[in-house]
Amino acid sequence: MTAGQAGRDRLARYRSIADLREEARRRLPRAVFDFFDGGAEDERTLAANGDAFDALALRPRVLNNVERVDTGMTLFGRRSALPLAVAPIGGAGAGRRRADLDMARAAAAAGVPYTLSTMSSASIEEVARHAPGRLWFQAYVLRDRELVRRLIERAEGAGYEALMITVDLPAGGKRERDLRNGFAMQYRHSLRNTLDFLRHPGWLLPMALHGRPPLKNLEGMAPAASAGGPAASSVGRFSDPTFDWKQLAALRERWPRQFIVKGILHPDDAVKALALGCDAIVVSNHGGRQLDGAMASIRALPAVAAAVDRRVPVLLDSGIRRGSHIVKAIAAGATGVLAGRALLYGAVAGGERGAGHALAILADELARTMRLCGASGLEAIGADLLAL
Ligand SMILES: Cc1cc2nc3c(=O)[nH]c(=O)nc-3n(C[C@H](O)[C@H](O)[C@H](O)COP(=O)(O)O)c2cc1C
Repeated sequence: MTAGQAGRDRLARYRSIADLREEARRRLPRAVFDFFDGGAEDERTLAANGDAFDALALRPRVLNNVERVDTGMTLFGRRSALPLAVAPIGGAGAGRRRADLDMARAAAAAGVPYTLSTMSSASIEEVARHAPGRLWFQAYVLRDRELVRRLIERAEGAGYEALMITVDLPAGGKRERDLRNGFAMQYRHSLRNTLDFLRHPGWLLPMALHGRPPLKNLEGMAPAASAGGPAASSVGRFSDPTFDWKQLAALRERWPRQFIVKGILHPDDAVKALALGCDAIVVSNHGGRQLDGAMASIRALPAVAAAVDRRVPVLLDSGIRRGSHIVKAIAAGATGVLAGRALLYGAVAGGERGAGHALAILADELARTMRLCGASGLEAIGADLLAL
């Protein structure tokens, strides 16, 4: 048996995204798992994201010929094998050294776009070199505008198809798991943390050998930001609370390709984003990591979709763990979805193959749910499939 086959056989044990999450929990020190898994404050929004999907029931159609099911769609004039792109995940390298590249390569192999976070441990150029697929670059607007300008220029130079501006971070969410665990710019080396690291040699060994991966995009630019890795409140510390619509419009003016605004829940904000010429909107509450008490994204979606009225694609994230969630999102008005933690759990469980396995699970469940709903293509998924 080749190493590749052995890896695939091992991954076949994980039948769902929940299984991959459990494997990630097993492999990672608690502080790192909690950073990936957790949400802000009482984690009400994190929970609401899942609960709101559960509360939506499907009302399937029968006796349609569903021998062939096409999960593909056209986004920005190009074909995507699934109605899905990988969400930007900062700090993924804290879980596995090459996690960003692993997810980017898995996305390319699956024929879906990948979004690189500003806070990644692989640089804009490295990802462009090693991941041959469709690449989007996510930028936070940080206080250091010159830094942001240079990052965007680099993404343009490296041929990224889209620029995604995240707008739901005027301050960092209060992520209490991270605060309790001492998961900050530098780990607090408490006895509990140290013992926990020692209990996870598979994670500790590469970190001890190579050090904690730096935030590559910020290297040489913002010493304080790039040195110690990502943290609960660190991105918030650098984000710019003065960033407003006028400045968003200026970014739109400067970027020559697709321009995506991520983090919208209010239909009036979607209309404003449209007016300044954005090419897609991501309805998102940041996976419950920012404003605790914010409504579930899937609940915000119908009003945003109605306001956008198909003028640009509307993507939804926060809580995608099942193929049926993708069907529900499309039925509620989305063009497609972004998947965040689902891919991250996969990458932690098994690197590039693990991230690919997460995508394969979602793709299989999507096609299966479509068949069971009598929909042979995404255009057949309409609001009537939802029983409210
Ligand atoms: C560990 C982690 C890091 C994240 N980093 C970023 C980031 O750098 N930029 C950003 O726009 N969103 C970031 N997000 C939010 C995701 O892009 C996405 O909105 C969220 O994960 C979607 O929810 P889901 O994980 O339930 O799919 C991060 C999410 C997680 C879990």
